[in-house]
Amino acid sequence: PNHQHHEQSGPTPGPNPLSSRCLSTRRELYERDFPVYKQPVEVGSFSLDSERRFFNDSRQLRYYVEPDRTPNFDLRDGYRDRFIKRDDSVKEKLDHILRWILANKSKLSSKVTSDKSCALDVDFVTWRGHLTKLLTTPYEAREGWLLAVTRFRGTLYISEVETEAARRDRESRTGRHEEMMYWGYKFEQYTCADDVHSSPDPGGVVNTNEAFCTVVQTRLADHRLLFSGEVDCRDKDPKAPAAPACYVELKTSAEICTPKQRSNFHRFKLIKWWAQSFLPGVPRVVAGFRDHEGVVVGVETFPISKMSHLIKNEHNCWKPTVCMNFCCDFLSFVKQTATEDNPSVVYLFCYEPHRDVTFSIHRDSQYSFLPRWYLEGITR
Ligand code: A3P
Ligand code: MG
Ligand code: MG
Repeated sequence: PNHQHHEQSGPTPGPNPLSSRCLSTRRELYERDFPVYKQPVEVGSFSLDSERRFFNDSRQLRYYVEPDRTPNFDLRDGYRDRFIKRDDSVKEKLDHILRWILANKSKLSSKVTSDKSCALDVDFVTWRGHLTKLLTTPYEAREGWLLAVTRFRGTLYISEVETEAARRDRESRTGRHEEMMYWGYKFEQYTCADDVHSSPDPGGVVNTNEAFCTVVQTRLADHRLLFSGEVDCRDKDPKAPAAPACYVELKTSAEICTPKQRSNFHRFKLIKWWAQSFLPGVPRVVAGFRDHEGVVVGVETFPISKMSHLIKNEHNCWKPTVCMNFCCDFLSFVKQTATEDNPSVVYLFCYEPHRDVTFSIHRDSQYSFLPRWYLEGITR
C-alpha cells in the first residue's frame, strides 16, 4: 500500500457540510473553479519605527532602485556590527492593526447598531501572513499552525499563536540560520532608498524593527476581509499605478544550478511568494539569487500573474485554485464555528501536517488577544 495515499485518505468530512467539527485539508477537495477574489483596495497604511512605535502614516515606505543584473552584493556585510534585530519573542498579535483601526474607524464603519456603537463593515480582520499560511496549507507537509479566533461585534478577528514546535525551532536556531535570516533584510538595504530621489545606503544599519504596512480591503467569495501586510518598497516612478499595484516584494533565494533545484524552487518556493503577494495585490517579486557565501549573483523579476504559467510543467505541483478554495472554506468553517460574540472567548483552530483542521474553545484564557484599549476604543 502507498503510504502517502494512505495518509491522505479515510472518511474525513468534506469541506462544506452544514456543521462539522473539522475541515479536511486534502487537495483534491479544493480543485474547483477559482473563487471570486476582488481586486484588493488599499484603505490605509502605517509604519513602525526603529523602536517598533506605531505611526498612522507611510514614513517607513522605501523606494525600489533597480540593481545590476549581476550585482555581487555581499549579504554578510554588517551582520556583526550594523544589525539591530527585532525581538521575535515579543508577540504583538493584532495590536498594530487594531491601533490602525481605532485611528481610522470613521473610514471603516457605516452601520450603527442598536446601542449606537459602530460595527466594522468586514467579516474578518487579520494579518496577511496568517492568510498566506492558510493558502499554502493543502501543500504544507512540514509546519502546522494555530490560529486564535474571536468574534466581537460581528467581526471575526484571527491572530496566530506560536506552536510548541515553532517555539523550539526559534529558540534553537543555529548561528548560520540566524545569519541567513539577516541576508534577506540586507538585500532590501542594497535595493531600497529612503526617498524618491536618493540612493540605497549599504553602509547603514539594518534594523528589522522598522516596517511599512499596507492595509487592504477585499472579498473572497462571501467573506469581506480587512488585512494588513508588510510591504518592502514601491516603484519610484511617480507615474506608477496607485497602491497596491506600485508595490514591490523583495526576496532572496539560493542560486539555481540544476534542473532539480529549479523544480524545487517552482514547487516549494514560488507557492509562498505567490500566496504572499497575490493576497494584497502586489504585482511583482524581485528576487536576488545568492551563492553559498551570501553573494547575490543574479537578480530577476517575477510578475505574480506569470507564476502560475511557470509551474505548469511541474509534475504534482501546487495550484492557485486549491489554495484559494481551501482558504475560502476555512473562513466558512470559522464563521460556522465561532458563533459566540464575546471578546474573552477564543476558538483555537489547529493544523498539523496531513491532518484535518480541528478546533477547541477557550474562555478567559491565555489565548484571549483583543486588548481592553481596543474594546473600549471601538465602543465609544
Ligand atoms: P527573504 O524573503 O529574502 O528570505 P519578506 O521576504 O517577507 O519581506 O521577509 C524579509 C526577510 O525576513 C526574509 O528574507 C527572511 O530573511 C526573513 N523572514 C521572513 N519570514 C520569515 C520566517 N517565517 N522565518 C524566518 N525568516 C523569515
Ligand atoms: Mg518584507
Ligand atoms: Mg521581502
